Amino acid sequence: KILILDFGSQYTQLIARRVRELNVYCEIHPYNKTPQLDSSFKGVILSGSPFSVRDKDAPVPDLSQIKGKLPVLGVCYGAQYLAHESGGTVTPSKHREYGRANLTSIDQKSPLFRGLTLNTQVWMSHGDTIINMPETFKPIASTHDVKNGAFQIEAQNTFGIQFHPEVYHTTEGKKLLENFVKDICGVSGNWTAASFAGAAIEELKTTIGDEKVVLGLSGGVDSSVAAVLLDKAIGKQLNCIFVNNGLLRKNEFDEVLASYKDMGLNVKGVDASDKFLDQLEGVSDPEQKRKIIGRVFIEVFDEEATKIKDVKWLAQGTIYPDVIESVSVNGPSATIKSHHNVGGLPETMNLKIIEPLKLLFKDEVRKVGKTLNISNQLIGRHPFPGPGLSIRILGEITREKVRILQEVDSIYIGEMREQGLYDDVWQAGAILLPIQSVGVMGDERTYEQVVALRAVTSTDGMTADWVHLPYDFLSKVSSKIINNVKGVNRVVYDISSKPPATIEWE
Ligand code: XMP
Repeated sequence: KILILDFGSQYTQLIARRVRELNVYCEIHPYNKTPQLDSSFKGVILSGSPFSVRDKDAPVPDLSQIKGKLPVLGVCYGAQYLAHESGGTVTPSKHREYGRANLTSIDQKSPLFRGLTLNTQVWMSHGDTIINMPETFKPIASTHDVKNGAFQIEAQNTFGIQFHPEVYHTTEGKKLLENFVKDICGVSGNWTAASFAGAAIEELKTTIGDEKVVLGLSGGVDSSVAAVLLDKAIGKQLNCIFVNNGLLRKNEFDEVLASYKDMGLNVKGVDASDKFLDQLEGVSDPEQKRKIIGRVFIEVFDEEATKIKDVKWLAQGTIYPDVIESVSVNGPSATIKSHHNVGGLPETMNLKIIEPLKLLFKDEVRKVGKTLNISNQLIGRHPFPGPGLSIRILGEITREKVRILQEVDSIYIGEMREQGLYDDVWQAGAILLPIQSVGVMGDERTYEQVVALRAVTSTDGMTADWVHLPYDFLSKVSSKIINNVKGVNRVVYDISSKPPATIEWE
């Protein structure tokens, strides 16, 4: 496997994804927490950073286990750090180098550039540049503006590049990473979704033995894939609990429960709708809603889990982006993102935690799901927030409002599937606004609710763009909603991007 040392660049996760696309396993670790480098590590990539090597508080790694022992590729800051540390000169560039550039010279004898074409396009994003290189550093590529675009230290099998091979705009970036990972580090690309699934099932068997495991299913991709992996490993020792909080999409609880049962999962459906809706009565603050739903979920789940005799493990569908320790831009202290859906469970229940997907990115989870023959219906589902429709009903929640929104959402999503638009959208949903507006139906004046439709594209939910849905589609959905859902007389479409808006309205 490959180690990626993170200096806080926004692109670090992208490097990991590119390496994994080569079917090579890699791990990201903060620059100041290098793991013990046993023989399973075959090479190291040093990431970029928002810092300059000249900054007083610039991140300084300890490379004593690494330098001269394993092949190294420094990217941007990583390259500048290597040069700076060995006595080279790194200074601010005359003009900040940002955007596309071309490699006007390449040393094709360098194993890093083997097979790359002269003038190939690369993506630059740095304020510093290496103007003088230490003696042992040999330049191996340059652009019009950047003389030392790449270097090699032959004796140490170390390389540095000032551009970013991991971004899409570096046309042959994947080839360069392949040269490094496969030829220079000698890792073969045999890490695939199928091999992951096979190994994970074996590992789960060994770890869990004959003990019992409990897992909360949400209907989403991550928990479903985790459940199927565990089911293959330990069968009926796995007890799944699927809670209806009364805030799911129309018919979703029954349909998804049925498909879990079809898949052979040992699952218990618990309809706790009344408990959730009673507790939410009169609450309109979004954070308050989230807290109540989180608390009631823990109560319900806890109650069900204690009914299972001798359960020892709590399984969770945590995925890699939830656990990567990100290097904080404001200082070397590392912050850990915690999984917001499951906070609080482990402490109260005294169970050992098992997270079979915690090393995978979302798209990899989907691939694993496919190799396990989970239906596309389940794997391709849009993300849906844990608090469900509660944060799409602005203001107070009532059973009547939930019913209205379920109807509206069902028409919207149903039509989206019908017209083949569902898979082009990252996430879509309807929002019930806390206002009424005047309308006319027949000879009657109406004064009813407004709903907003939202559809976005995204890769990770961190940023998002509104989808340019066809006017014909919007027009059809709008009349279907107004003609069929009593209580709604107006439909609007949300055309805001994130940032500065968010995907959900609350
Ligand atoms: P925002 O609204 O922050 O949403 O742009 C980003 C993604 O997160 C989902 N989301 C949540 N998921 N609990 C969840 O499990 C929550 O409280 C929550 N709030 C937002 C949202 O649906 C989108 O996919």
